[in-house]
Amino acid sequence: MEKLRVGMIGAGFVAGFHTRAMVQLRSMELTGLHALGGFDALAGWARKHDLGPATIYPTIREMAEHVDAIAIYCPNYLRLEIMEEVAAAKRAGAAFKGVICEKPLGRNVAEARRIVALAEECKLLTAYFENQIFMKAIQTQMRQLEPVQKVMGPLTLTRSAEEHGGPHMAWFWDPTKQGGGVLSDMGCHSIAVGWYVLTPVGKPLTFLEPISVSCDMGLLKWGQPKYREHLLITQGIDYAKTPAEDFATGIITFRNPETGQKVKAQFTDSWMFDKQGLRLFMDGLGPGYAFEVNTLVSPLNIFIGDAAAQAIADQESALEKSTASRGLLSVQTNEADLYGYVDENQDAAESFLNGTHAMLPFSYGLEITRLVMASYMAAERKQTIDLTCLDVQRDLESFVPAIQQGRGRDVL
Ligand SMILES: NC(=O)c1ccc[n+]([C@@H]2O[C@H](COP(=O)([O-])OP(=O)(O)OC[C@H]3O[C@@H](n4cnc5c(N)ncnc54)[C@H](O)[C@@H]3O)[C@@H](O)[C@H]2O)c1
Repeated sequence: MEKLRVGMIGAGFVAGFHTRAMVQLRSMELTGLHALGGFDALAGWARKHDLGPATIYPTIREMAEHVDAIAIYCPNYLRLEIMEEVAAAKRAGAAFKGVICEKPLGRNVAEARRIVALAEECKLLTAYFENQIFMKAIQTQMRQLEPVQKVMGPLTLTRSAEEHGGPHMAWFWDPTKQGGGVLSDMGCHSIAVGWYVLTPVGKPLTFLEPISVSCDMGLLKWGQPKYREHLLITQGIDYAKTPAEDFATGIITFRNPETGQKVKAQFTDSWMFDKQGLRLFMDGLGPGYAFEVNTLVSPLNIFIGDAAAQAIADQESALEKSTASRGLLSVQTNEADLYGYVDENQDAAESFLNGTHAMLPFSYGLEITRLVMASYMAAERKQTIDLTCLDVQRDLESFVPAIQQGRGRDVL
Protein backbone atom coordinates (compact mmCIF):
# COMPACT_ATOMS: atom_id res chain seq x y z
CA MET A 1 0.00 0.00 0.00
CA GLU A 2 1.29 3.47 -0.90
CA LYS A 3 2.13 5.56 2.13
CA LEU A 4 2.21 9.31 2.54
CA ARG A 5 5.71 10.28 3.67
CA VAL A 6 5.26 12.94 6.33
CA GLY A 7 7.83 15.41 7.64
CA MET A 8 6.86 17.01 10.96
CA ILE A 9 7.91 20.46 12.12
CA GLY A 10 7.70 20.35 15.91
CA ALA A 11 8.15 17.34 18.16
CA GLY A 12 6.21 18.38 21.24
CA PHE A 13 2.88 17.49 22.79
CA VAL A 14 0.68 17.40 19.69
CA ALA A 15 3.34 15.76 17.53
CA GLY A 16 3.31 12.96 20.13
CA PHE A 17 -0.44 12.58 19.72
CA HIS A 18 -0.09 12.47 15.92
CA THR A 19 2.58 9.78 16.01
CA ARG A 20 0.35 7.70 18.30
CA ALA A 21 -2.41 8.21 15.72
CA MET A 22 -0.25 7.49 12.65
CA VAL A 23 0.93 4.19 14.08
CA GLN A 24 -2.71 3.04 13.95
CA LEU A 25 -2.83 3.65 10.17
CA ARG A 26 -1.35 1.86 7.19
CA SER A 27 -1.28 4.97 4.99
CA MET A 28 1.35 7.18 6.66
CA GLU A 29 5.05 7.03 7.41
CA LEU A 30 6.98 9.40 9.69
CA THR A 31 9.80 10.15 7.30
CA GLY A 32 11.34 13.27 8.78
CA LEU A 33 11.39 15.51 11.83
CA HIS A 34 12.54 19.08 12.28
CA ALA A 35 12.26 20.75 15.70
CA LEU A 36 14.22 22.68 18.29
CA GLY A 37 13.72 20.04 20.96
CA GLY A 38 11.99 16.75 21.73
CA PHE A 39 13.00 15.14 18.45
CA ASP A 40 15.25 12.39 19.81
CA ALA A 41 12.54 10.93 22.03
CA LEU A 42 9.87 11.19 19.34
CA ALA A 43 12.11 9.71 16.62
CA GLY A 44 13.09 6.86 18.95
CA TRP A 45 9.43 6.08 19.67
CA ALA A 46 8.54 6.20 15.96
CA ARG A 47 11.37 3.86 14.96
CA LYS A 48 10.60 1.45 17.79
CA HIS A 49 7.00 1.26 16.54
CA ASP A 50 8.07 0.89 12.89
CA LEU A 51 6.42 4.14 11.87
CA GLY A 52 9.26 5.14 9.55
CA PRO A 53 12.86 6.35 9.58
CA ALA A 54 11.97 9.62 11.40
CA THR A 55 15.21 11.17 10.15
CA ILE A 56 16.08 14.38 11.95
CA TYR A 57 16.73 17.27 9.57
CA PRO A 58 18.46 20.50 10.61
CA THR A 59 16.37 22.60 8.19
CA ILE A 60 12.91 22.56 6.65
CA ARG A 61 14.49 22.99 3.23
CA GLU A 62 16.41 19.69 3.58
CA MET A 63 13.45 17.78 4.99
CA ALA A 64 11.23 19.04 2.16
CA GLU A 65 13.36 17.09 -0.36
CA HIS A 66 12.44 13.74 1.22
CA VAL A 67 8.73 13.93 2.06
CA ASP A 68 5.30 14.09 0.37
CA ALA A 69 3.74 16.33 3.00
CA ILE A 70 4.93 18.72 5.69
CA ALA A 71 3.01 18.93 8.97
CA ILE A 72 3.26 22.13 11.02
CA TYR A 73 3.09 21.23 14.72
CA CYS A 74 5.07 24.07 16.28
CA PRO A 75 3.87 26.97 18.46
CA ASN A 76 1.31 29.46 17.12
CA TYR A 77 3.67 32.46 17.08
CA LEU A 78 5.85 30.68 14.50
CA ARG A 79 3.05 29.65 12.14
CA LEU A 80 3.49 32.32 9.51
CA GLU A 81 7.29 32.32 9.64
CA ILE A 82 7.34 28.51 9.27
CA MET A 83 4.78 28.57 6.46
CA GLU A 84 6.94 31.15 4.64
CA GLU A 85 9.86 28.69 4.92
CA VAL A 86 7.69 25.80 3.69
CA ALA A 87 6.61 27.91 0.70
CA ALA A 88 10.22 28.92 0.01
CA ALA A 89 11.23 25.23 -0.05
CA LYS A 90 8.46 24.52 -2.56
CA ARG A 91 9.43 27.48 -4.73
CA ALA A 92 13.04 26.26 -4.65
CA GLY A 93 11.90 23.01 -6.28
CA ALA A 94 11.15 20.50 -3.50
CA ALA A 95 8.62 17.98 -4.79
CA PHE A 96 6.37 17.60 -1.70
CA LYS A 97 2.72 18.20 -2.55
CA GLY A 98 0.84 18.91 0.64
CA VAL A 99 0.92 20.81 3.91
CA ILE A 100 -0.89 20.05 7.14
CA CYS A 101 -1.38 22.67 9.86
CA GLU A 102 -2.61 22.23 13.41
CA LYS A 103 -5.20 24.62 14.77
CA PRO A 104 -5.32 27.60 14.92
CA LEU A 105 -4.44 28.41 11.31
CA GLY A 106 -3.39 31.89 12.43
CA ARG A 107 -3.57 34.02 15.56
CA ASN A 108 -5.79 36.47 13.66
CA VAL A 109 -7.45 36.82 10.25
CA ALA A 110 -4.51 38.60 8.60
CA GLU A 111 -2.11 35.78 9.55
CA ALA A 112 -4.52 33.02 8.52
CA ARG A 113 -5.26 34.75 5.20
CA ARG A 114 -1.55 35.02 4.41
CA ILE A 115 -1.07 31.30 5.18
CA VAL A 116 -3.94 30.40 2.82
CA ALA A 117 -2.41 32.65 0.12
CA LEU A 118 1.05 31.06 0.47
CA ALA A 119 -0.39 27.56 0.06
CA GLU A 120 -2.40 28.68 -2.98
CA GLU A 121 0.57 30.43 -4.59
CA CYS A 122 2.59 27.22 -4.25
CA LYS A 123 -0.32 25.03 -5.43
CA LEU A 124 -0.03 22.94 -2.27
CA LEU A 125 -2.74 20.55 -1.13
CA THR A 126 -3.85 21.55 2.36
CA ALA A 127 -5.24 19.97 5.52
CA TYR A 128 -6.34 22.15 8.44
CA PHE A 129 -6.25 19.84 11.44
CA GLU A 130 -9.39 20.16 13.54
CA ASN A 131 -9.52 16.77 15.23
CA GLN A 132 -12.89 17.08 16.96
CA ILE A 133 -14.82 16.99 13.68
CA PHE A 134 -13.21 13.59 13.03
CA MET A 135 -14.12 12.09 16.41
CA LYS A 136 -15.77 8.74 15.80
CA ALA A 137 -18.56 9.72 18.20
CA ILE A 138 -19.32 12.86 16.15
CA GLN A 139 -19.16 11.08 12.78
CA THR A 140 -21.22 8.14 14.05
CA GLN A 141 -24.02 10.26 15.50
CA MET A 142 -24.25 12.05 12.14
CA ARG A 143 -24.55 8.78 10.23
CA GLN A 144 -27.01 7.34 12.73
CA LEU A 145 -29.20 10.45 12.74
CA GLU A 146 -29.08 11.09 8.98
CA PRO A 147 -32.43 9.38 8.19
CA VAL A 148 -34.05 11.01 11.23
CA GLN A 149 -32.74 14.41 10.15
CA LYS A 150 -34.13 13.93 6.64
CA VAL A 151 -37.62 13.30 8.03
CA MET A 152 -37.66 15.68 11.00
CA GLY A 153 -35.31 18.48 9.85
CA PRO A 154 -31.75 19.38 10.95
CA LEU A 155 -30.47 20.17 14.44
CA THR A 156 -31.44 23.59 15.76
CA LEU A 157 -29.17 23.89 18.80
CA THR A 158 -25.77 22.50 19.69
CA ARG A 159 -23.48 23.06 22.68
CA SER A 160 -19.78 22.30 22.52
CA ALA A 161 -17.18 22.53 25.23
CA GLU A 162 -13.50 21.82 25.70
CA GLU A 163 -12.24 22.26 29.23
CA HIS A 164 -9.20 21.42 31.35
CA GLY A 165 -7.12 22.96 34.12
CA GLY A 166 -4.63 24.88 31.93
CA PRO A 167 -1.98 24.28 29.24
CA HIS A 168 1.32 22.46 29.60
CA MET A 169 3.81 24.98 28.14
CA ALA A 170 4.59 28.62 28.98
CA TRP A 171 4.01 29.93 25.45
CA PHE A 172 0.32 28.91 25.59
CA TRP A 173 -0.13 31.21 28.61
CA ASP A 174 1.52 34.19 26.89
CA PRO A 175 -1.33 35.81 24.93
CA THR A 176 1.02 37.64 22.59
CA LYS A 177 2.59 34.34 21.52
CA GLN A 178 -0.39 32.03 21.60
CA GLY A 179 -2.94 34.58 20.28
CA GLY A 180 -5.04 34.98 23.44
CA GLY A 181 -6.24 32.69 26.19
CA VAL A 182 -8.59 29.74 26.12
CA LEU A 183 -10.82 31.12 23.35
CA SER A 184 -7.90 31.25 20.92
CA ASP A 185 -6.54 27.92 22.13
CA MET A 186 -9.69 25.81 22.42
CA GLY A 187 -12.62 27.96 21.27
CA CYS A 188 -11.56 27.18 17.71
CA HIS A 189 -12.39 23.49 18.36
CA SER A 190 -15.79 24.13 19.89
CA ILE A 191 -16.81 26.67 17.23
CA ALA A 192 -15.77 24.31 14.41
CA VAL A 193 -17.52 21.24 15.77
CA GLY A 194 -20.65 23.28 16.53
CA TRP A 195 -20.88 24.63 12.97
CA TYR A 196 -20.17 21.16 11.59
CA VAL A 197 -22.87 19.24 13.48
CA LEU A 198 -25.53 21.87 12.71
CA THR A 199 -24.85 21.64 8.96
CA PRO A 200 -27.52 19.57 7.21
CA VAL A 201 -26.16 16.22 5.99
CA GLY A 202 -24.75 16.41 2.47
CA LYS A 203 -24.24 20.18 2.46
CA PRO A 204 -20.78 21.78 2.19
CA LEU A 205 -18.82 22.73 5.33
CA THR A 206 -19.65 26.44 5.09
CA PHE A 207 -23.23 26.02 3.81
CA LEU A 208 -24.75 27.53 6.97
CA GLU A 209 -24.02 31.26 7.01
CA PRO A 210 -22.75 32.62 10.34
CA ILE A 211 -24.79 35.80 10.86
CA SER A 212 -24.08 36.90 14.42
CA VAL A 213 -21.77 36.22 17.37
CA SER A 214 -22.06 37.05 21.05
CA CYS A 215 -19.37 36.23 23.59
CA ASP A 216 -18.51 36.78 27.23
CA MET A 217 -15.19 35.94 28.82
CA GLY A 218 -13.43 36.19 32.14
CA LEU A 219 -10.34 35.47 34.15
CA LEU A 220 -12.00 33.44 36.85
CA LYS A 221 -9.20 31.37 38.38
CA TRP A 222 -5.75 32.27 37.08
CA GLY A 223 -6.16 35.99 37.90
CA GLN A 224 -6.46 35.33 41.62
CA PRO A 225 -3.23 36.24 43.52
CA LYS A 226 -2.49 32.66 44.62
CA TYR A 227 -2.80 31.27 41.08
CA ARG A 228 -1.05 34.26 39.48
CA GLU A 229 1.93 33.55 41.70
CA HIS A 230 1.83 29.86 40.78
CA LEU A 231 1.86 30.80 37.09
CA LEU A 232 4.77 33.17 37.61
CA ILE A 233 6.82 30.53 39.42
CA THR A 234 6.00 27.55 37.20
CA GLN A 235 5.71 29.19 33.75
CA GLY A 236 7.42 32.57 34.13
CA ILE A 237 4.20 34.28 32.97
CA ASP A 238 2.92 37.35 34.82
CA TYR A 239 -0.87 37.58 34.58
CA ALA A 240 -0.75 40.84 36.56
CA LYS A 241 0.84 42.39 33.45
CA THR A 242 -0.43 40.37 30.48
CA PRO A 243 -3.51 38.39 31.48
CA ALA A 244 -5.62 36.27 29.15
CA GLU A 245 -9.09 34.77 29.53
CA ASP A 246 -9.39 31.38 31.25
CA PHE A 247 -13.11 31.14 30.49
CA ALA A 248 -15.11 32.03 27.37
CA THR A 249 -18.62 31.29 26.27
CA GLY A 250 -20.67 32.50 23.35
CA ILE A 251 -23.38 31.85 20.83
CA ILE A 252 -23.06 31.87 17.06
CA THR A 253 -26.25 32.12 15.03
CA PHE A 254 -26.29 30.56 11.57
CA ARG A 255 -28.80 30.98 8.74
CA ASN A 256 -29.76 28.25 6.31
CA PRO A 257 -29.56 30.04 2.93
CA GLU A 258 -32.17 27.72 1.36
CA THR A 259 -34.86 27.82 4.05
CA GLY A 260 -33.96 30.97 6.02
CA GLN A 261 -34.08 28.90 9.23
CA LYS A 262 -31.84 30.14 12.06
CA VAL A 263 -29.91 27.69 14.24
CA LYS A 264 -27.49 28.27 17.12
CA ALA A 265 -24.17 26.89 18.35
CA GLN A 266 -23.10 27.65 21.89
CA PHE A 267 -19.44 27.25 22.86
CA THR A 268 -17.89 27.06 26.33
CA ASP A 269 -14.17 26.72 26.89
CA SER A 270 -12.14 26.94 30.05
CA TRP A 271 -8.72 26.51 31.58
CA MET A 272 -10.20 26.46 35.09
CA PHE A 273 -11.91 23.09 34.90
CA ASP A 274 -10.64 21.58 38.14
CA LYS A 275 -12.04 18.14 37.52
CA GLN A 276 -10.54 14.83 36.40
CA GLY A 277 -8.70 16.16 33.32
CA LEU A 278 -9.59 17.09 29.73
CA ARG A 279 -13.31 16.94 28.94
CA LEU A 280 -14.82 17.35 25.49
CA PHE A 281 -18.56 17.72 25.62
CA MET A 282 -20.94 18.12 22.71
CA ASP A 283 -24.65 17.81 22.42
CA GLY A 284 -27.21 18.57 19.75
CA LEU A 285 -30.96 18.99 19.82
CA GLY A 286 -33.17 18.52 16.78
CA PRO A 287 -36.93 18.22 16.49
CA GLY A 288 -37.65 14.94 18.30
CA TYR A 289 -34.05 13.71 18.51
CA ALA A 290 -30.72 14.50 20.17
CA PHE A 291 -27.15 13.34 20.72
CA GLU A 292 -24.59 13.79 23.49
CA VAL A 293 -20.85 13.12 23.73
CA ASN A 294 -18.81 13.29 26.95
CA THR A 295 -15.22 12.08 26.74
CA LEU A 296 -14.90 11.68 30.52
CA VAL A 297 -17.32 8.78 30.37
CA SER A 298 -15.05 5.80 29.92
CA PRO A 299 -15.83 2.10 30.00
CA LEU A 300 -12.75 1.79 32.23
CA ASN A 301 -12.71 3.09 35.79
CA ILE A 302 -9.70 2.49 38.01
CA PHE A 303 -9.66 2.96 41.74
CA ILE A 304 -6.48 3.77 43.67
CA GLY A 305 -6.87 4.20 47.41
CA ASP A 306 -4.68 6.35 49.68
CA ALA A 307 -2.73 3.30 50.88
CA ALA A 308 -1.69 2.47 47.31
CA ALA A 309 -1.18 6.01 46.02
CA GLN A 310 2.64 6.07 46.28
CA ALA A 311 2.82 3.37 43.59
CA ILE A 312 0.91 5.37 40.96
CA ALA A 313 2.16 5.49 37.39
CA ASP A 314 2.32 8.77 35.42
CA GLN A 315 -1.18 10.19 35.81
CA GLU A 316 -1.22 11.67 32.28
CA SER A 317 -0.94 8.18 30.83
CA ALA A 318 -4.50 7.68 32.10
CA LEU A 319 -6.01 10.85 30.61
CA GLU A 320 -4.78 14.07 28.97
CA LYS A 321 -4.33 16.88 31.57
CA SER A 322 -5.27 14.47 34.35
CA THR A 323 -5.32 16.20 37.74
CA ALA A 324 -5.61 13.23 40.08
CA SER A 325 -3.62 10.09 40.76
CA ARG A 326 -5.87 8.40 43.31
CA GLY A 327 -9.53 7.80 43.99
CA LEU A 328 -11.89 6.74 41.22
CA LEU A 329 -10.08 7.55 37.97
CA SER A 330 -11.62 7.80 34.54
CA VAL A 331 -9.10 6.22 32.15
CA GLN A 332 -9.16 6.36 28.36
CA THR A 333 -7.34 3.58 26.54
CA ASN A 334 -6.84 5.24 23.15
CA GLU A 335 -7.03 9.03 23.33
CA ALA A 336 -5.48 9.56 19.89
CA ASP A 337 -8.47 7.72 18.44
CA LEU A 338 -11.08 9.09 20.86
CA TYR A 339 -10.26 12.74 20.06
CA GLY A 340 -10.20 12.22 16.28
CA TYR A 341 -6.45 12.32 15.54
CA VAL A 342 -6.45 8.90 13.87
CA ASP A 343 -9.27 9.75 11.48
CA GLU A 344 -7.97 13.22 10.59
CA ASN A 345 -4.58 11.73 9.68
CA GLN A 346 -6.25 9.04 7.62
CA ASP A 347 -8.29 11.66 5.76
CA ALA A 348 -5.16 13.73 5.03
CA ALA A 349 -3.23 10.67 3.83
CA GLU A 350 -6.00 9.42 1.54
CA SER A 351 -6.75 12.89 0.18
CA PHE A 352 -3.13 13.85 -0.54
CA LEU A 353 -2.37 10.44 -2.08
CA ASN A 354 -5.39 10.98 -4.35
CA GLY A 355 -4.20 14.49 -5.23
CA THR A 356 -7.00 16.38 -3.44
CA HIS A 357 -7.29 18.73 -0.48
CA ALA A 358 -8.24 17.12 2.82
CA MET A 359 -11.82 17.30 4.08
CA LEU A 360 -10.91 20.52 5.96
CA PRO A 361 -8.67 22.67 3.73
CA PHE A 362 -6.78 25.77 4.93
CA SER A 363 -9.59 28.00 3.58
CA TYR A 364 -11.86 26.38 6.19
CA GLY A 365 -9.29 27.10 8.93
CA LEU A 366 -9.43 30.75 7.89
CA GLU A 367 -13.23 30.78 8.38
CA ILE A 368 -12.78 29.36 11.88
CA THR A 369 -10.16 32.03 12.69
CA ARG A 370 -12.68 34.68 11.53
CA LEU A 371 -15.32 33.34 13.92
CA VAL A 372 -12.83 33.22 16.81
CA MET A 373 -11.85 36.84 16.08
CA ALA A 374 -15.52 37.85 15.88
CA SER A 375 -15.98 36.27 19.32
CA TYR A 376 -13.11 38.33 20.76
CA MET A 377 -14.58 41.42 19.10
CA ALA A 378 -18.01 40.70 20.64
CA ALA A 379 -16.51 40.31 24.13
CA GLU A 380 -14.35 43.43 23.76
CA ARG A 381 -17.15 45.62 22.41
CA LYS A 382 -19.73 44.02 24.73
CA GLN A 383 -22.00 43.74 21.71
CA THR A 384 -23.48 41.07 19.52
CA ILE A 385 -21.44 41.20 16.32
CA ASP A 386 -23.45 41.33 13.10
CA LEU A 387 -21.42 39.31 10.61
CA THR A 388 -23.59 40.46 7.70
CA CYS A 389 -22.48 44.09 8.25
CA LEU A 390 -19.85 45.17 5.72
CA ASP A 391 -18.08 47.43 8.27
CA VAL A 392 -17.71 44.46 10.66
CA GLN A 393 -16.41 42.26 7.85
CA ARG A 394 -13.81 44.91 7.00
CA ASP A 395 -12.85 45.42 10.67
CA LEU A 396 -12.32 41.68 11.16
CA GLU A 397 -9.66 41.59 8.43
CA SER A 398 -7.24 43.62 10.55
CA PHE A 399 -8.63 42.96 14.03
CA VAL A 400 -6.09 41.94 16.66
CA PRO A 401 -7.77 41.37 20.04
CA ALA A 402 -6.57 43.56 22.92
CA ILE A 403 -5.65 40.39 24.83
CA GLN A 404 -3.47 39.20 21.93
CA GLN A 405 -1.76 42.61 21.93
CA GLY A 406 -0.87 42.08 25.61
CA ARG A 407 -3.54 44.59 26.77
CA GLY A 408 -5.72 42.03 28.57
CA ARG A 409 -5.86 44.25 31.67
CA ASP A 410 -8.03 46.71 29.71
CA VAL A 411 -10.72 44.13 28.95
CA LEU A 412 -10.67 41.46 31.68
N1 LIG B 1 -5.58 19.56 18.19
C1 LIG B 1 -5.34 19.76 19.45
O1 LIG B 1 -6.17 19.47 20.32
C2 LIG B 1 -4.03 20.36 19.86
C3 LIG B 1 -3.49 20.01 21.11
C4 LIG B 1 -2.27 20.59 21.47
C5 LIG B 1 -1.64 21.48 20.63
N2 LIG B 1 -2.20 21.80 19.42
C6 LIG B 1 -1.54 22.75 18.52
O2 LIG B 1 -0.32 22.17 18.10
C7 LIG B 1 0.71 23.17 18.01
C8 LIG B 1 1.90 22.72 18.86
O3 LIG B 1 1.49 22.61 20.20
P1 LIG B 1 2.24 21.64 21.23
O4 LIG B 1 1.33 21.49 22.39
O5 LIG B 1 2.75 20.46 20.54
O6 LIG B 1 3.47 22.59 21.64
P2 LIG B 1 4.82 22.14 22.37
O7 LIG B 1 5.37 23.38 22.97
O8 LIG B 1 4.58 20.96 23.22
O9 LIG B 1 5.78 21.65 21.17
C9 LIG B 1 6.26 22.56 20.22
C10 LIG B 1 7.35 21.91 19.39
O10 LIG B 1 7.77 22.88 18.41
C11 LIG B 1 9.19 22.92 18.40
N3 LIG B 1 9.66 24.24 17.96
C12 LIG B 1 9.70 25.40 18.66
N4 LIG B 1 10.26 26.36 17.90
C13 LIG B 1 10.55 25.80 16.71
C14 LIG B 1 11.15 26.29 15.52
N5 LIG B 1 11.54 27.56 15.40
N6 LIG B 1 11.33 25.43 14.50
C15 LIG B 1 10.96 24.15 14.61
N7 LIG B 1 10.38 23.63 15.71
C16 LIG B 1 10.17 24.46 16.75
C17 LIG B 1 9.61 22.62 19.83
O11 LIG B 1 10.95 22.19 19.85
C18 LIG B 1 8.60 21.52 20.18
O12 LIG B 1 9.08 20.29 19.72
C19 LIG B 1 0.06 24.46 18.48
O13 LIG B 1 -0.30 25.22 17.36
C20 LIG B 1 -1.18 24.05 19.22
O14 LIG B 1 -2.23 24.99 19.12
C21 LIG B 1 -3.38 21.21 19.03
